[in-house]
Amino acid sequence: MNALVWADAASPEEGASQANALFRDAFGYEPRGVWSAPGRVNIIGEHVDYNGGPCLPIALPHRAYVALSPRADRTIRLISPQTRDAVDVLDLDVLGPKGGPGEVTNHWTAYLAGVAWALEKAGHGPIPGFDAALWSCVPLGGGLSSSAALECATAVALDEVCSLGLAGPLESPNDEGRRELVDAARVAENQIAGANTGGLDQTASMRCQEGHALALDCSDMSTRQVPFDLGGVGLELLVIDTRAKHSLADGQYGSRRADCEESARLLGVRQLADATDLDEAVAALGDERLAARTRHVISEIARTRAFIELLDEGPLEGRRLAVAGALMYDSHESLRDDYEVSCPELDVAVAAARFAGAHGARMTGGGFGGSAIALVDAEATTRVASAIARAYAERGWEAPHFIRALPSQPAGRMN
Ligand code: GLA
Repeated sequence: MNALVWADAASPEEGASQANALFRDAFGYEPRGVWSAPGRVNIIGEHVDYNGGPCLPIALPHRAYVALSPRADRTIRLISPQTRDAVDVLDLDVLGPKGGPGEVTNHWTAYLAGVAWALEKAGHGPIPGFDAALWSCVPLGGGLSSSAALECATAVALDEVCSLGLAGPLESPNDEGRRELVDAARVAENQIAGANTGGLDQTASMRCQEGHALALDCSDMSTRQVPFDLGGVGLELLVIDTRAKHSLADGQYGSRRADCEESARLLGVRQLADATDLDEAVAALGDERLAARTRHVISEIARTRAFIELLDEGPLEGRRLAVAGALMYDSHESLRDDYEVSCPELDVAVAAARFAGAHGARMTGGGFGGSAIALVDAEATTRVASAIARAYAERGWEAPHFIRALPSQPAGRMN
């Protein structure tokens, strides 16, 4: 059996120095600073953000690092390790929404440039052009919000170089201001990159706190920090990056959203979170597919509320741990069977984790590949990971990558 592949996060020093070096090589001068923002895993509350329900993400130690300097003109020059020899050049006066004349076809540049465009559009302008170098250790396409990390790192960078005063220092973040930065990051993703996602990822990257999970209520995007110290009770959250393809820009994500909007319309509610009686809603919808989608959303909202209540009661031990684990398994089954956003790689990871003794496991993020999570006894982490890797090897699949998820810091400036 081959060794397990651990995708550890780079240290902040390493990340900052990589972004710095890339900037210096590409542009020949020192950047104004380096800012960074984390990827996330959502513990529970999946595909409910755009339905106005609750989510419970944590920020990962894996971050995107952006070294940046403002320019005197409206040009944006971008470099990343993937495009080492070629600097991408954009014009802030020309770029515009996906499908229009100023469309930005290169995905990662759309995330960075899109944030400048969105900030200006929201009245925070004028935003100058800038030179930026990006270096990230958030696994790409792993369902861990690598794109939100880029957007949020850029947002806090522009916030500071333009003196917008929205992010506040890491020790005492400005939560109201951060909501505005989240909005800009989300507009960049929705309009410039063309992925109609719901705001969970950007909120997690911008508003999570170290050692805490973020209870996010997407009916009004209000948040509450919930202590999440798994280590204190001998637990770990294992992330399994299945390495299976994951893309939000393809049609599936949009078609799930459309199903939800259609269901809400038929039920006469503004959004599905307002339809509280599951049996009534399912009976009223008739249509089997819409009923199944709605069943997922309403039941996932209830599971997420129950999970948050468990954390509020105290650390995940004994009965609380058993119930929390069961909620995670139920969440996965609902996403697999009713919402139909899972895939064999995610299902096998969850089943193998369960068989190897995980307390709970589920897919996390948008689905169709990407990552799963498993709540495990710290001493059993390697055993559970090995069982999953074995199950993949038996099927001839590429080896999964593993991460130990520790709730980390939100977007901010690197010192
Ligand atoms: C992706 C989207 C989020 C959210 C999740 C599913 O990560 O970006 O907005 O909808 O899927 O919970």
